Amino acid sequence: AAIKKYQFDIQVKNVSRLCHAKPIVTVNGMFPGPTVYIREGDRVLINVTNHAKYNMSIHWHGLKQFRNGWADGPAYITQCPIKTGHSYVYDFNVTGQRGTLWWHAHISWLRATVYGAIVIMPKQGTPFPFPQPHQETNIILGEWWNNDVEELVKQGNKLGLPPNASDAHTINGKPGPLFPCYEKHTYAMEVEQGKTYLLRIINAALNDELFFAIAGHNMMVVEVDAVYTKPFSTNAILIAPGQTTNVLVQATQAPGRYFMAARPFMDALLPIDNKTATAILQYKGVPTTVLPILPQLPVPDDTDFALSYNAKLRSLNSPQFPANVPLKVDRHLFYTIGLGINPCPTCINGTQLIASLNNISFEMPQIGLLQAHFFNIKGVFRTDFPDKPLTPFNYTGAPLTANLAANIGTRVSKITYNSTVELVLQDTNLLTVESHPFHLHGYNFFVVGTGIGNFDPKEDPAKFNLVDPPERNTVGVPTGGWTAIRFRANNPGVWFMHCHLELHTSWGLKTAFVVEDGKGADQTRNVKEHFPF
Ligand code: C2O
Repeated sequence: AAIKKYQFDIQVKNVSRLCHAKPIVTVNGMFPGPTVYIREGDRVLINVTNHAKYNMSIHWHGLKQFRNGWADGPAYITQCPIKTGHSYVYDFNVTGQRGTLWWHAHISWLRATVYGAIVIMPKQGTPFPFPQPHQETNIILGEWWNNDVEELVKQGNKLGLPPNASDAHTINGKPGPLFPCYEKHTYAMEVEQGKTYLLRIINAALNDELFFAIAGHNMMVVEVDAVYTKPFSTNAILIAPGQTTNVLVQATQAPGRYFMAARPFMDALLPIDNKTATAILQYKGVPTTVLPILPQLPVPDDTDFALSYNAKLRSLNSPQFPANVPLKVDRHLFYTIGLGINPCPTCINGTQLIASLNNISFEMPQIGLLQAHFFNIKGVFRTDFPDKPLTPFNYTGAPLTANLAANIGTRVSKITYNSTVELVLQDTNLLTVESHPFHLHGYNFFVVGTGIGNFDPKEDPAKFNLVDPPERNTVGVPTGGWTAIRFRANNPGVWFMHCHLELHTSWGLKTAFVVEDGKGADQTRNVKEHFPF
């Protein structure tokens, strides 16, 4: 194992896309930011120095940070933000994980431009459990706004409405040839005929689940969220914000130029799409004057594709990489996901859109929950988050209008150390049904079941997959449906859980789990060095 050191300078840089130039917040002036290369077992030290006018914090999405929540990164959950002119060293060990993850700003909407890949190679001498690729490349999907995103968020808050949607999707920061001024802003990947390539695909978009496909080429899915899967071949993938997917692509077509494309899956919204990002799979030697071929993507509201694609995802569950699914459950949690409307005296219309879990909309504290927990600072959060909704109703049927307004509070759940937890996330029709990608910090979980309509506690558990369910850190709760996840609470700390649609996170669709092992040993290192202020 080695020690890997990185310097992340948060700095503003002028960047132009779609013929619009604007200053954006970056790491080291790069957009997307630098890739963090690690080998399983390494210790990583990343010194983040903030030269921008915004408060900053960085999250290492999907890294478990075992007993090391101080390096997890979500602002006001595990740390106070890094102020302008200040630095903070994220110090963590990467054990028991290998694959593709990513890092992003975890404060306000700054992750719109502050993100990059994390590539964890297996231990020296340990091959991938799939054919060795000739080469590999990162494919990071994102969104681009022509206007300043933080300004749009401020305007949205005043109106109590969503900020304007993005103007384009991007592949490795570039929208591609379907947009103006694309010449310098098209990503191309060169391939040699007959060779196999590993694509590490990351959805860094703020608010869109995306379909991704490559014209003429099937993809072999081999890993999601840095966990190996049973390989399967598909002509398109579905990837939610926060998720990663590794695929193998064989360059076996006639030498030519083929588009890769990403566009939103939006089954609950008006399926209008004018934001498709494209990049080019370029066979070596083919002149760039040859017109590329566009792939067939599922239509924006193709729910059937989404359901059948997710059903194909299975853990590899080999002797070397067993799926240790908790078979017994110590604690059953049932959280409803609701969108609603609350009064808002400071908003122009007097109301604002809001989002809640069990009808509680999470209010951000003034200091990190982890500090408050560790130093026993009272009055920062409450541990009475309800295990189930206080008023059960027909979740996906007629909305319970009394629940349209949510309670506001910094309320979390205490989980017994090393107990097994089953959490059912249930979408509701309070304002409208919608798909929600849920992310849990500090853990992977097993997605043991999912379905459309209301979860049935009598019938549905009998159908759970407890053998080889996918193991992930982010899962899409289907539109008007539910998802059941299981995990063992063996990582002490304070761990954030939230919808990875930035819009919904900022509306309060989040909570946290407090896990302590009774020894006060929530982390192994000296605490004082871990405060960025
Ligand atoms: Cu990728 Cu809490 O986030």
